[in-house]
Amino acid sequence: MSPISLYDHTARQLRDLCAQYGLGESTEVAVAEFRELLGPGAGRPISESPAWRSEVADDHTPVEFSIAFSQRGRPVVRVLVEPVAQQPDPESMTNLAESLLQTLSDRHGLPLDRYCRLRDLFLGQRPREPFGLWFSLVLCPHAQPAFKIYFNPQAHGPEHAYDLVHESMHRLDLGAAYPVLAMHTLRRGHELDKPSFFALDLSADADARIKVYVSHLEAGASDVEAVAQGGRRVPPGVLREFCQIAGGAAGPFTNRPLISSYAFIASDTDRPSGYSLYLPIRDYVPDDAVAQCRVRDVLGRAGLDRDILDRALSAVTNRPLDAGVGLIAHVSLRMGRLRPGVTVYLSSEAYRVTPPRSMPRRWANAAT
Ligand code: TRP
Repeated sequence: MSPISLYDHTARQLRDLCAQYGLGESTEVAVAEFRELLGPGAGRPISESPAWRSEVADDHTPVEFSIAFSQRGRPVVRVLVEPVAQQPDPESMTNLAESLLQTLSDRHGLPLDRYCRLRDLFLGQRPREPFGLWFSLVLCPHAQPAFKIYFNPQAHGPEHAYDLVHESMHRLDLGAAYPVLAMHTLRRGHELDKPSFFALDLSADADARIKVYVSHLEAGASDVEAVAQGGRRVPPGVLREFCQIAGGAAGPFTNRPLISSYAFIASDTDRPSGYSLYLPIRDYVPDDAVAQCRVRDVLGRAGLDRDILDRALSAVTNRPLDAGVGLIAHVSLRMGRLRPGVTVYLSSEAYRVTPPRSMPRRWANAAT
């Protein structure tokens, strides 16, 4: 039997997830898109060490699954992918990503006008680590897959990240919203509040989003409550409760940071239309069984179906949940009028399972 490749491992997980969410016949279409997005490097056996140290996941698997739960409608399955070249180095990785983008755009008629306005800013010079371009494949039942791309605002070094965001927003006719973003996200200085992703929905719809993500080092609930004021309609107390339930405390979160994203749409350009908070739950739990309890609690309070989470977990892994930590990588709360809900990010663990760890009681007990 031939050894299991990265593609075999992750495609099996994706098929099982799609089966759980009733994707039916569109599953094979989705898996074919996924295969292409993974790139030629994904043929390599997972028994070998990863050819590219992707930052998509902690064990360098260049794939992460997520399930977006909403009050209205069925959950949406998504996959974050960093395409891997045959001989990966920053240049071949970026070249591959750009040629895949062109292929996808030709096949699905995806608009690349926004991408073209930003391309030279993020990818123009020598490609920078940790990444050039990431993709998200968004799978809705009975619809064509949708795509999102992520640029790296650290591409010219940390000291230029806000300038890069500013210039990008200006080129996308969102310049008027930059002061709101800077005022709310930069409160503690650019060394603690760092732009980490700049994302575009590759869609011609009026509600196609532009998203700016900022990582808040050493921040707690009150810091992100202040950041969220830059968006619209964030009811008081909601973010604090989310931190307490998912993170076990109101913070500060001194391991991996809380991340905020602001979402902008073309018809609402003076400030963000949506705000999301991402909590890297894997750093604040001893194991995934505790993470599962906490996420079930988050879903229950938001009036969402907790059992769907359990089915997603069993599609992705058959290991006992208390035998490792990091399967549930992040949980996020999406707010505002665009698509409110909860998203859960699941690791593939193709290369490695992080062993459970002992934790201070204040973190570990919070779910009970
Ligand atoms: N693995 C990286 C991190 O944890 C990037 C990443 C992947 C990420 N999926 C994410 C960041 C979801 C925020 C939310 O930061």
